[in-house]
Amino acid sequence: MDAAAFVAELASHNDSILSRLAPAQTLTAEAGGDLSPRNLLRIALKNELEASEIAALWMPSARGADLKLALARQAGDEARHYRLIEERLRALGDNLDGFDPLATGYSPLFKFLSTLPTDVERVAAGQFTREAIALVKNVQFIELCERAGDTATAMLYRGVIQPDEQHHHQLGRHFLQQLATDDESQRLARDAQARTIALAEELQTMAFKRTGVHHAPGC
Ligand SMILES: [Fe+2]
Ligand SMILES: [Fe+2]
Repeated sequence: MDAAAFVAELASHNDSILSRLAPAQTLTAEAGGDLSPRNLLRIALKNELEASEIAALWMPSARGADLKLALARQAGDEARHYRLIEERLRALGDNLDGFDPLATGYSPLFKFLSTLPTDVERVAAGQFTREAIALVKNVQFIELCERAGDTATAMLYRGVIQPDEQHHHQLGRHFLQQLATDDESQRLARDAQARTIALAEELQTMAFKRTGVHHAPGC
């Protein structure tokens, strides 16, 4: 199929899966986990750091100046998100002394992404799919912050972080359209998308079981 039709197919697949992450019950703190914005923002720091690092990791082997620069921009955006979230945590009274976002190691999703060898798999998984997941999770997080009366965090996400994540997702769409032009590249992109979604869902289930948190903000 042509690249535009293929991207539309992947997008509708994303949407149908992501609606499973979106229902109201995922916003309900039924499990007694620590769902304070402060706790969730610490989880967000790890997501932002990993998103920055993966984009940086892919830049040297990416083909073409456009993709290299898009990855460089993303690495910078995610690093800025990290610092903004850190600032917000300090304003909430968390001094972050001794906090190491990677103390428990890299996530399974990061490890998977770091093994992807081709640009088409990387943009399908890292930008197109992972950033779409982040957008949905962040909407849930914004609602949670508003309900908790934390308008400053909600504004940071709505006004600054979400527009960047939207841009990262759009980058995925743009490059997929250029790269997923034949059966083989489309197969690679489809597989990479499926693995990313499976890992995100698995991660969510594991995090939920461990901490009661299943809608931590994304990257
Ligand atoms: Fe992002
Ligand atoms: Fe981010």
